Amino acid sequence: MGHPVYRPRRLREKPLLRNMVRETTLATDDLICPLFVVHGRGAREAIASMPGQYRYSVDEVVKEAKDAAGMGIPAVLLFGIPEDKDPRGSEAYADDGIVQQATRAIKDTVPDLLVITDVCLCEYTSHGHCGVVEEGRVKNDPTLELLARTAVSHAEAGADLVAPSDMMDGRVAAIREALDEANFSETPIMAYSAKYASSFYGPFREAAQSAPQFGDRRSYQMDPANAVEALREVALDIDEGADIVIVKPALPYLDIVTRVKADFGLPVAAYSVSGEYAMIRAAGTLGWLDETRAMMETLVSIRRAGADLVITYFAKEAARVLESRKAG
Ligand code: PBG
Repeated sequence: MGHPVYRPRRLREKPLLRNMVRETTLATDDLICPLFVVHGRGAREAIASMPGQYRYSVDEVVKEAKDAAGMGIPAVLLFGIPEDKDPRGSEAYADDGIVQQATRAIKDTVPDLLVITDVCLCEYTSHGHCGVVEEGRVKNDPTLELLARTAVSHAEAGADLVAPSDMMDGRVAAIREALDEANFSETPIMAYSAKYASSFYGPFREAAQSAPQFGDRRSYQMDPANAVEALREVALDIDEGADIVIVKPALPYLDIVTRVKADFGLPVAAYSVSGEYAMIRAAGTLGWLDETRAMMETLVSIRRAGADLVITYFAKEAARVLESRKAG
């Protein structure tokens, strides 16, 4: 004897066999591509801390969306940068707001592509917080009405799904009720249920010019040390009517993805955020790691952890790699 009966290497030798026994798949239709939209025409403003990502004007974002759809990416997630910011973030819920314009334009040109809209106030408020500020504090309940108005105006513009990312208590219920009243009972809510107060949002805040002007977001986003609380947040959102739940960021929170999927069984999306993208991009540019392999390994790890959907700035690049694997 003296040799093991089970030799795992037997299944690793031949590439075809390796593929056959692979446990986790990553497919282009699991990917959601975030896009930033600005006012103007013909604009493609590079975002310094997110190389390869741009702020697009409406005409340009339509081209980008068409491109994504052509590659088989099923959905884009829109973020808007308004012309003017004010304390109540009024462009967030304006009929001709930037996200509303972009949604209409994309749905007109690429009707089969799903448009998901980020529902939040922080890009639109002069103080950069995700809610109404009174006496130096972010107020929960006065914010709910504005978030609900934002969601309804996105649905009116043609959004296929709305994605509240503010982390106010009770916002899923407020949005669900407002959508139902406005005859959008068929519009799903993809809720950022477990959203942590993370340093990995840094590049996004540069991209969206949405850094808080005072304090931080720790009074509404979650403490990175908490896991059980994430399950309570998810349970609440599901109770209030969430159809898909998001865990965000992805990589430092894969344990949360696994627990949410195991406990609730609802579709789970993981948001691989701007800082995760920037990290891989930066190390790749420096030649410290193989960027394409790091990207694919990261994406498959998020799926392996239990995410059904992956929101990633690498969506188009990953789609390209997946396509070339088919061809090769
Ligand atoms: C808005 C919002 C943020 C992100 C998505 N929606 C920023 C924040 O909470 O500060 C971050 C996304 C990313 O980093 O890629 N509330």
